[in-house]
Amino acid sequence: MSVHSEDTRKVTTHRLWEMKQRGEKIAMLTAYDYSMAKLIDQSGMDVILVGDSASNVMAGNVTTLPITLDQMIYHGKSVVRGITRALVVVDMPFGSYQGNSKEALASAIRIMKETHADAIKLEGGSEIRESIERILCAGIPVMGHLGLTPQSINKFGTYAVRAREEAEANKLKEDALMLQEVGCFGLVLEKIPAALAKQVTESVQIPVIGIGAGPHVDGQVLVAHDMLGITQAFTPRFLRRYANLQDTIIEAAQAYIKDVKSCDFPNEKEQY
Ligand code: KIV
Repeated sequence: MSVHSEDTRKVTTHRLWEMKQRGEKIAMLTAYDYSMAKLIDQSGMDVILVGDSASNVMAGNVTTLPITLDQMIYHGKSVVRGITRALVVVDMPFGSYQGNSKEALASAIRIMKETHADAIKLEGGSEIRESIERILCAGIPVMGHLGLTPQSINKFGTYAVRAREEAEANKLKEDALMLQEVGCFGLVLEKIPAALAKQVTESVQIPVIGIGAGPHVDGQVLVAHDMLGITQAFTPRFLRRYANLQDTIIEAAQAYIKDVKSCDFPNEKEQY
């Protein structure tokens, strides 16, 4: 039996909603470039997230804050060119939506027009309600993101588990209901207690995708470079590695160096 969907139709926000209704889990993974997106789409992935984690894994920044709207659009365009089936969601970068809802709409429109992605994702709850509503009014599908929101790392001061305290957990539950009420099609919950994620998932009809939020959510998301074992230093408890590409890549590069230095490459068949 195949582990992924045999359905080759393009995934839509409505189909994600149907998956939640019938209890079918949703698989979501990041991609930032054409080649990787093409491979991940071929795997049968439901959702591909052009995450602002590109700032870390693509550009080597310490946080997601430095990545710009132009850079996210570049990554979004590259990914969309590689996709036939998965729903593509592009992260709105830090500074492109928080302060002013008109600017938020302008940023979201640029992402949709220039990348041809299916939806955008942004971080936060009641503080950015006006921006979310304005973007939704333009017919742009919005995915929320609550819990550990990396764009607020300087406010949090730590990447520790969020919403362990009652006040923060209550605010998160209210924000999740608000995101559903205004019309978001889905929600990411990052690094919160599994019991809280379960409560939130059961309280809303929209799909809830977890990362470090336990098993009682409607789907899971990971950063591709982490689960493929390309990144090295990042080892949170929630990360399961499905490959060790760092060793594969280093060993292949070393074998190439050896062959070049020893004049084994190129051989007679590898020349004109
Ligand atoms: O940017 C990203 O990769 C994300 C996921 C961690 C959910 O937002």
